[in-house]
Amino acid sequence: MIFFKTSLSLLFVAFAITSAQRRNNNGGLRKTVIKSARCEDVEKIEAGDTVSVFYTGKLLADGTVFDSNEGKSPLEFEVGVGKVIPGWDQGLLGSCPGETFRLVIPSDLAYGEQGAGGGVIPPNAELDFTVTVEGLKKELKIEVLKKVDCDSEKRTREKDKISVHYNATLANGQKAFSSYDSNTPLEMTIGKAGIKGWDEGTKGACVGEVRRVVVPPSLAYGEKGIEGVIPPNATLILEMEFLKIEDRVLSFLDRISSGNFGRGK
Ligand SMILES: *[C@@H]1O[C@H](CO)[C@@H](O)[C@H](O)[C@H]1NC(C)=O
Ligand SMILES: *[C@@H]1O[C@H](CO)[C@@H](O)[C@H](O)[C@H]1NC(C)=O
Repeated sequence: MIFFKTSLSLLFVAFAITSAQRRNNNGGLRKTVIKSARCEDVEKIEAGDTVSVFYTGKLLADGTVFDSNEGKSPLEFEVGVGKVIPGWDQGLLGSCPGETFRLVIPSDLAYGEQGAGGGVIPPNAELDFTVTVEGLKKELKIEVLKKVDCDSEKRTREKDKISVHYNATLANGQKAFSSYDSNTPLEMTIGKAGIKGWDEGTKGACVGEVRRVVVPPSLAYGEKGIEGVIPPNATLILEMEFLKIEDRVLSFLDRISSGNFGRGK
């Protein structure tokens, strides 16, 4: 059995060798779930997410283990952006945290004709990985549902006091809270919400716009949640309609560049 000192050197550096010879063909990648884990669609691995995984890699031909980080620290990297071999970039998509799966990767989505590691991975080798998704970090995602055009200086930004109607739901569609319940739009100052998802998710909108913001737990209510309303580690989905910018504090530079200098707000 051969283990590399650092798994990074294998999975990451070897990609440079294979990218040139990658074919437009992802046929042959086979994924089989060994231990399933449940999560909602918005919680599944997508390109751009940062995952941490445990894995063991074998040669499919004879079962030789060439690399593993089991029992060590998890490997963390951004998925789907060419940081690892294509078979990993494609094979991890759609999995839930906690899942363990087997990934059989054809050589053209791995190390190709050249192989890697000075013969450790022979030319044209098919690889057989077992991967456990240990952790997953997502960025906040904004999807515009009703687009309204406006100049960039009219878009909501830090420190604006805005009025929005919103529905906040959990990833499974269950309602958490809503401004429609009391029929009173939320008034908030961007940057002062105290919850990153609200502050980041309300920036850059035109009045009249409707958007859907998927907020990962770390930018929402975190590991604690809100008792009885938001479970621990919950993804929050905010659907917001931007009713108006109630108030905007113009900075000195804004006034000059917008031609509003001396004219108040
Ligand atoms: C929430 O997530 C953290 C970090 O991933 C984990 O340590 C913790 O056990 C989770 N809590 C619950 C209740 O799932
Ligand atoms: C919130 O939910 C209500 C009731 O389903 C719906 O009428 C309204 O359009 C939703 N608002 C947004 C901003 O999605």
